[in-house]
Amino acid sequence: MKTKIAVFASGTGSNFKALVQGDTGDGEIKLLLTDNKDAGALALAETLGIEAFYKYPGKFKTKFSVKEEQNWVDFLIKKNIQLICLAGLMRIIKGPLLEEFQGRILNIHPSLLPSFPGLDGAGQAFRYGVKIAGCTVHYVDKGTDTGPIIFQEAVQVLDTDNRDSLAARILKKEHELFSKAVKAHCSGRAVYSMVNR
Ligand code: GAR
Repeated sequence: MKTKIAVFASGTGSNFKALVQGDTGDGEIKLLLTDNKDAGALALAETLGIEAFYKYPGKFKTKFSVKEEQNWVDFLIKKNIQLICLAGLMRIIKGPLLEEFQGRILNIHPSLLPSFPGLDGAGQAFRYGVKIAGCTVHYVDKGTDTGPIIFQEAVQVLDTDNRDSLAARILKKEHELFSKAVKAHCSGRAVYSMVNR
């Protein structure tokens, strides 16, 4: 039996597309949910033939209201979703979603965590002047970009780079890394664990 996956995306949705088209092994992308009516991911879902919904997240900008987060949970349970992939969700998950799906929420982030968590990880790395940047797929816990790491991939910063060229190369790596991590989780090779933390 395939693991049923919901992808959450607030923006363009290129990672969502890469998950749908990539090799996720025993994982199957069933659903796209967005907190942004204008998300490009919604149009992408239509062309990819994936069921997609905008769901109201509450009145806050960077988190869910508890009531709405519970609504998202109820919806996911109704749809028999077993795993959530955050593919550019610009909102913190702390309450009911984390309780219901602990150890079953994966996030992709455009930096080598624990460096440069939060907004614009690629830009933060570029402005800091690191020579090796990259991306991370990790399990979500109650911190911001702090959960157990599944995979990371390094990206060399070139002398000719600006913020956007670096972010574009990182994004390309993200597209490979996310499917690989989903595949590892769905086959039991990646497990949420507090060991070594
Ligand atoms: C990606 O770079 C993803 O790592 C980042 O948002 C972008 C979404 O792009 N996520 C975060 O920064 C979360 N902290 P996409 O919509 O094209 O997949």
